[in-house]
Amino acid sequence: MHKYLKERLHRSVKVLGVDIDPRLIQRASEENESPEDVSYACVDVLDDEAFESVKTYMEVNNLEKFDAICCYSITMWIHLNHHDQGLRLFLQKLSNLAELLVVEPQPWKCYQKAERRLKKAGEIFPLFLELKWRSDVDLQIQKYLEESLDRRKIFESAPTKWQRKICFYR
Ligand SMILES: C[S@@+](CC[C@H](N)C(=O)[O-])C[C@H]1O[C@@H](n2cnc3c(N)ncnc32)[C@H](O)[C@@H]1O
Repeated sequence: MHKYLKERLHRSVKVLGVDIDPRLIQRASEENESPEDVSYACVDVLDDEAFESVKTYMEVNNLEKFDAICCYSITMWIHLNHHDQGLRLFLQKLSNLAELLVVEPQPWKCYQKAERRLKKAGEIFPLFLELKWRSDVDLQIQKYLEESLDRRKIFESAPTKWQRKICFYR
């Protein structure tokens, strides 16, 4: 067996779950049945100071990179709150730290739904109209990962029940 693979198989699997929402992190921590293998951190991924706790986790666990980073249903929220350049930064930051980057991008119709929902509540996403990545946002994400970040898509799932695809980039 390849030495690299052998080493990995002998290492116990550890997971770090990250979210910006402290209530979600608290709930997840309370329900955590194996705290030695799974831990949680309340982190805004785009905030470098807060992101230090992820870096510390990596140092403590002797990691140069994570084997995999999974970003499920988050790209739209990063995009709506931090514009195109914020989404690019998010992808770049996580891509740099992952052997395998797993992304489930929300397609444009999710943005439209979220915008309508917020409008009904009398609010707006201030950046919504300014976004340059729009109707083909999932394609733009793929292009950016492949052309600017030198990633290669190795697998794409069939659409999930929410009609989203999960894409695996090496
Ligand atoms: C649609 S939920 C998906 C939650 C989870 N990934 C899943 O698949 O069930 C989007 C999540 O992204 C989190 N989020 C939004 N902006 C974030 C940021 N800058 N850093 C970390 N988490 C963020 C939100 O708090 C929310 O829990």
